Amino acid sequence: MIFWRCFCCIYPEEHQEISENKSKDYPWDIYSLKELLLATNIFHQNNKIGEGAFGSVYWGRTSKGIEVIGNERKGRDGVAVEVEILGRVRHKNLLGLRGFYAGGDERLIVYDYMPNHSLITHLHGQLAEDCLLDWPRRMRIAIGSAEGLAYLHHEANPHIIHKDIKASNVLLDTEFEAKVADFGFAKLIPEGVTHLTTRVKGTLGYLALEYAMWGKVSESCDVYSFGILLLEIIGAKKPIEKLPDGVKRDNVQWVTPYVQKGAFNHIADPMLKGKFDRDQLKSAVMIAMRCTDGNPENQPSMICKAR
Ligand SMILES: Nc1ncnc2c1ncn2[C@@H]1O[C@H](COP(=O)(O)OP(=O)(O)OP(=O)(O)O)[C@@H](O)[C@H]1O
Ligand SMILES: [Mg+2]
Repeated sequence: MIFWRCFCCIYPEEHQEISENKSKDYPWDIYSLKELLLATNIFHQNNKIGEGAFGSVYWGRTSKGIEVIGNERKGRDGVAVEVEILGRVRHKNLLGLRGFYAGGDERLIVYDYMPNHSLITHLHGQLAEDCLLDWPRRMRIAIGSAEGLAYLHHEANPHIIHKDIKASNVLLDTEFEAKVADFGFAKLIPEGVTHLTTRVKGTLGYLALEYAMWGKVSESCDVYSFGILLLEIIGAKKPIEKLPDGVKRDNVQWVTPYVQKGAFNHIADPMLKGKFDRDQLKSAVMIAMRCTDGNPENQPSMICKAR
């Protein structure tokens, strides 16, 4: 497993082999704990960006002069999976791995820092009021996320299923270009295998039925989550909303009546104040409806949307 090979390479006898590999295939570094402690001011509260299921995320500046995130992950499996997968992928719409530290019980992953945060911050968080995501930006983010996923599903070898596509895992660089992040739940799909069965992980509201019910993982799980994400980008509604009467409604249930009536304009985020391309809006909603079709056979593949 790459993760353990990397871990071993902190010992001198393994170091040379890894350095040779690194220069060829792995453009990442091995960090010392001291460097990451210094960079994050000993994981100071002021450096903390957020917290997810696996641990906390911090920003910091290393001696290399680049701003990075030290991602302190508690689940060992998640770190191993993430390093193994990120070590394999290179795409303009996937978050790059800078390197990592592994020692004792500590595992820290270092990524590129994304100054425009995640989609969730713009759609529902602190930056929602600033309305920085105009319609062209939203469409570029949707296409970029689709291209990142299309690469994972169709170009990476072996193919990769992300399994946790959601707004907090789509980060935005200085140009608001989408970078799909967080590969802790991802699965490598061996050649010739159509699906795997795994324990259900992921985020409520984004999970395809066949995965949520039976743990069946295939590309169509990501296609479903992408459809939910696309509706969220268009309408800025959370995937599941609690209505005043306490009933929970998902995004697909919310848009379906508008689609049936052809009232697409009602689906657009009110923050856009009517400034969107009507034809693009209709196409994007119809793509999202196909992606979230209950029958995976009716879903498109990521390659249809991205190209
Ligand atoms: N490289 C990065 N640059 C900027 N912000 C980041 C970066 N990586 C993560 N974040 C932000 O840090 C926060 C925590 O991320 P993390 O992935 O741990 O949790 P999450 O996505 O909120 O939930 P989950 O654990 O379910 O994925 C999120 O708001 C995420 O957008
Ligand atoms: Mg995340």
